[in-house]
Amino acid sequence: MKIALIGYGKMGKAIEEIALQKGHEVVLKIDVTNADELTPKNLQQADVAIEFTGPHTAVQNIFTCFEAGIPLVCGSTGWLEKLDDVKRKAVEKNAGFLYASNFSIGVNIFFEVNKKLAQLMSRQDSYEIKTTEIHHTEKKDAPSGTSITLAEQILENIPRKKHWVNRESVESDDLTIISKRIDPAPGTHIIKYFSDIDEIEIIHTAHNRKGFAAGAVQAAEFMNGKTGLYSMKDVLGL
Ligand SMILES: NC(=O)c1ccc[n+]([C@@H]2O[C@H](COP(=O)([O-])OP(=O)(O)OC[C@H]3O[C@@H](n4cnc5c(N)ncnc54)[C@H](O)[C@@H]3O)[C@@H](O)[C@H]2O)c1
Repeated sequence: MKIALIGYGKMGKAIEEIALQKGHEVVLKIDVTNADELTPKNLQQADVAIEFTGPHTAVQNIFTCFEAGIPLVCGSTGWLEKLDDVKRKAVEKNAGFLYASNFSIGVNIFFEVNKKLAQLMSRQDSYEIKTTEIHHTEKKDAPSGTSITLAEQILENIPRKKHWVNRESVESDDLTIISKRIDPAPGTHIIKYFSDIDEIEIIHTAHNRKGFAAGAVQAAEFMNGKTGLYSMKDVLGL
């Protein structure tokens, strides 16, 4: 498979290493220094594009891939307020698009556990809920895309919580997300239900970036030749 890598930072490099090990070819590498080379014509050399740049550049890069007509796997976080517009545009352009706030198999299983736990706790009003995410200090967005996905899953299943807030809150309808920035943490997410009597806590800790990179390559293999909207649930058959 021929891959176009958009963003050649920590994730782009980790993805390249795994893609090459699996026998794929990286035919285009775009970073901030050659961003003008991200054109539909250049992209069309590839079977699939993988985008990991950041919050401010993702949407423009996504639209360029839609113009090129090649399937795209996007992992940039911090732009989710535009996700509905991007999905609409993907459908309009008959593009292949897969976004995941987190590509690791472990986190995608953790998402399923989070949903199940929230369903079980939906009527247990004596429990307060607090979520925490811990990442390295270079991370540009807060809260993390993964913690937003986790919070939204809780909001969908727990009627007494109406919205998430990125601070400690004592308002009963707020769902607290605490963001901590500590080096060299690649990513920890904690969901805690607690009462006067006891507490239940689920934790996912990434030890390195390999899980995200391997998942992104697996997603690119899945997207090769496809149009339409997909998620990691489709890739992993969850
Ligand atoms: N979804 C996931 O599983 C997952 C996992 C880890 C990181 N992320 C997200 O992926 C993004 C990148 O993370 P990272 O750790 O690799 O960051 P990074 O800062 O190491 O790399 C980003 C790279 O993008 C480049 N860049 C900036 N503007 C660009 C542009 N216009 N065109 C092309 N390249 C450009 C930068 O020069 C840099 O090399 C972040 O948003 C991060 O939160 C997602």
